[in-house]
Amino acid sequence: MDTQDPKIRFDNVTKVFGEGVDAFTALRNLNLDIADGEIVTVVGPSGCGKSTAMNIVAGLQDVTSGQCLVNGTEVHGPGPDRGVIFQQYALFPWLTVRKNVEFGLKLQGLGKDERRKRAEHYIALVGLSDFADTLPKNLSGGMKQRCAIARAYAVNPSVLLMDEPFGALDALTRVRLQDQLLDTWSRDKRTIMFITHDVDEAVYLAHRVIVLAARPGRLQEIIEVDLPFPRNEDIRLSSEFTKIRNRVWHAVYTRSDKETA
Ligand SMILES: Nc1ncnc2c1ncn2[C@@H]1O[C@H](COP(=O)(O)OP(=O)(O)O)[C@@H](O)[C@H]1O
Ligand SMILES: [Mg+2]
Repeated sequence: MDTQDPKIRFDNVTKVFGEGVDAFTALRNLNLDIADGEIVTVVGPSGCGKSTAMNIVAGLQDVTSGQCLVNGTEVHGPGPDRGVIFQQYALFPWLTVRKNVEFGLKLQGLGKDERRKRAEHYIALVGLSDFADTLPKNLSGGMKQRCAIARAYAVNPSVLLMDEPFGALDALTRVRLQDQLLDTWSRDKRTIMFITHDVDEAVYLAHRVIVLAARPGRLQEIIEVDLPFPRNEDIRLSSEFTKIRNRVWHAVYTRSDKETA
């Protein structure tokens, strides 16, 4: 890959579900480049194709036309270069935190000692060392999501795909996990595509906020977040932040109000 090439490219991606009279265009002619090491957040009304776009990058869904490239190569299925984190954790309930994190490493063919070492590192990173031998049912929502994050990180993907990962969590836990995500990003500079319903979260995390519109799902607007890193509470409370947040809010909600009116 040329260093100038985008890490992720949507090249005129269209996704149609169903056929004939039942055909539904979930995404129409999406063109979007995401740079290596960039954090983009994706917002838009329910059903505008956010998850579809992410699933296409993840290789969990095919495109109907156009193409999706990661590292300059067309996506044809999931791979260890892309870690996926969903809202509903998707942990194996019968495995401890440690075994959940080790699971993907086993698939990669790592030996037992290396698996354990790597898992321990990432479990510590998300602050779950004291719960390494705990089953998911005995963890809070925030802890389960931290476990899911550790599991995705452990495989060492260069792209993290996160679909409303903090959506089910309380506000304080959410803010903590946002800061933790940025803190980790500041060290590893992975490319992150992060879907959220929360406009504040979208602005706080991102270099750019991608706003999608619905019916059919399509690109509405890209809003640059011209705020410095590291982000912190001062930035969250600044008037610059509020300005950008209001722009995103306007792009998302004014538009969908008009559509449903
Ligand atoms: N497997 C599917 N079959 C048919 N329609 C689908 C399927 N997956 C998603 N859709 C439709 O495509 C649209 C976009 O879905 P999705 O990407 O999940 O939206 P979002 O994540 O933005 O809420 C929705 O209207 C949804 O009903
Ligand atoms: Mg979704």
